[in-house]
Amino acid sequence: MKRSEINRIMRENLEFIEKMGFRLPPFAFYAPETWRTLGHEYDEIRTHMLGWDITDYGHGDFSNIGLFLFTLRNGSLSDPSCIKTYAEKILISDEDQYSPMHFHFHKMEDIINRGGGNLIVEVYNSDENEGLAATDVTVTTDGVVRTVPAGTKLCLTPGESITLPPRQYHAFWAERGTGKVLIGEVSMVNDDNTDNRFYETQGRFPKIEEDEAPLYLLCNEYPQAR
Ligand SMILES: [Fe+2]
Repeated sequence: MKRSEINRIMRENLEFIEKMGFRLPPFAFYAPETWRTLGHEYDEIRTHMLGWDITDYGHGDFSNIGLFLFTLRNGSLSDPSCIKTYAEKILISDEDQYSPMHFHFHKMEDIINRGGGNLIVEVYNSDENEGLAATDVTVTTDGVVRTVPAGTKLCLTPGESITLPPRQYHAFWAERGTGKVLIGEVSMVNDDNTDNRFYETQGRFPKIEEDEAPLYLLCNEYPQAR
């Protein structure tokens, strides 16, 4: 992705986040040059990869296959001294902007429509070969359990949420004609390097073509403290 596209997505989605009455923490707005001056007291942000995260899943077509994310808090699966067992993100999905079918080996997560348009969530069980099972899927939405056929596309209106257990496949996007959705994610610790099983192989952290200066650094770009 071009840096100019990343900057544009940051600006547009920041405006949407503020319009929805949500506020990001102070570290969201530190200038890139400021990060070089910050010491080890900021290491949790660096090592737990908090902050801005924009992906086109390697397809180079962000408006059709992509997701805006901002990680607000997270623990660490690789650091046994970390006692934080939970994570929170906000995500933004635009109309028909697809986040591809995947499950998590470890992480259980609630995906919440925090406002805007309607969120479509497509669900499948995984089979023993990590494929899509044809079996009915038991889903929990806002504390209510029900069983739906494989591949059901659930529609979450603002305020509604779904609980996704480990190994339950899910894909999601904002419903066409309803506007982009501010999505909350409340979950166990998130590790995008080891815990995601995409049904079809996807990229995760895009290679950036530097055609202008970054507005804010992405979560995998922080310089180490000296
Ligand atoms: Fe997920």
